[in-house]
Amino acid sequence: MAQKGEKKYYAVIGHPVGHSLSPAMQNAAFEACSLNGEYTAIDVAPEDMGAFVARARTSLAGFNITVPNKGAVIPFLDEAEPLAALQGSVNTVINRDGVLYGTSTDGYGLEAALKEAFSLEIRGHSVTFIGCGGVVKALAFHFASAGVKKIFLLNRTFGTAQALCGALQERFPSLECSCAPLGDESSLSGFFGKSDLAVQCTSLGLKESDPPPIRPELLPSGILFFDTIYRRTPLLQYAEEHGIRCANGLGMLLHQGAKSFSLWTGKEAPVEAMRRALYEAFYGNSR
Ligand SMILES: NC(=O)c1ccc[n+]([C@@H]2O[C@H](COP(=O)([O-])OP(=O)(O)OC[C@H]3O[C@@H](n4cnc5c(N)ncnc54)[C@H](OP(=O)(O)O)[C@@H]3O)[C@@H](O)[C@H]2O)c1
Repeated sequence: MAQKGEKKYYAVIGHPVGHSLSPAMQNAAFEACSLNGEYTAIDVAPEDMGAFVARARTSLAGFNITVPNKGAVIPFLDEAEPLAALQGSVNTVINRDGVLYGTSTDGYGLEAALKEAFSLEIRGHSVTFIGCGGVVKALAFHFASAGVKKIFLLNRTFGTAQALCGALQERFPSLECSCAPLGDESSLSGFFGKSDLAVQCTSLGLKESDPPPIRPELLPSGILFFDTIYRRTPLLQYAEEHGIRCANGLGMLLHQGAKSFSLWTGKEAPVEAMRRALYEAFYGNSR
């Protein structure tokens, strides 16, 4: 199909970034919408961010940011959506005639994935996050602003969980928020008992040989379990084998990317074309 207009360039930046599924997904979206766009993966180390952003200002119409750059990019932007600036995590930059505006679509991505997988509207529900890295900062602030009732945080480095819990309570005084170290199984069971949803957000499970971040047997049968990792982690496997409703992170990746596409182009994202390309790139078929 003929493509319209002058070619525009987009990218995802990370370090490393060669494994990213986003180019397949975004290029499928440009093609499905007959837009003259090209999306590539660019390896940018955090210390090279200033030089990259200076180049991007004149060469890219927009870009995504992945690990470990979601916080590192913020000082180089002209403007950031207030909640994204507060949570210190930007995954989408829009180039508005040389003015670089940053925002985060990760929270939207998870919210949309939960609706799709579990028909779950997060407002009024309670959620436990396992892990407390960059992505949880974005997700917890998004969920709190979307009306989640209680947020429980578990993290190996307890101080990180305490700091995020404090920041959330300061910004959302009516939110109930508690935290505990990852190894504190008594608090963990208490949190799970009060949660509708558990979201696995540690990087444990990215490698085949990784152990689960918690004992899988601690997942209660009635909880919804979402793993932000795409592959079948030990926790996801346990949930599947024990009849716990669960989903992997591909839906979140899809919907955060769809939102970025809409922000860049002003068009409704062709979600099904993006999903097909994503599954093709990940599973080797469109399922
Ligand atoms: N599906 C999606 O669209 C999507 C989007 C973004 C991220 N993700 C996934 O989310 C995960 C986290 O990303 P991030 O950006 O938050 O990364 P990050 O900032 O590096 O945080 C990593 C998290 O994992 C924990 N962790 C690492 N190694 C651990 C270990 N050996 N034992 C226990 N905890 C450990 C860290 O705990 P400490 O604080 O103690 O170090 C921290 O909570 C990754 O797996 C990523 O693939 C998925």
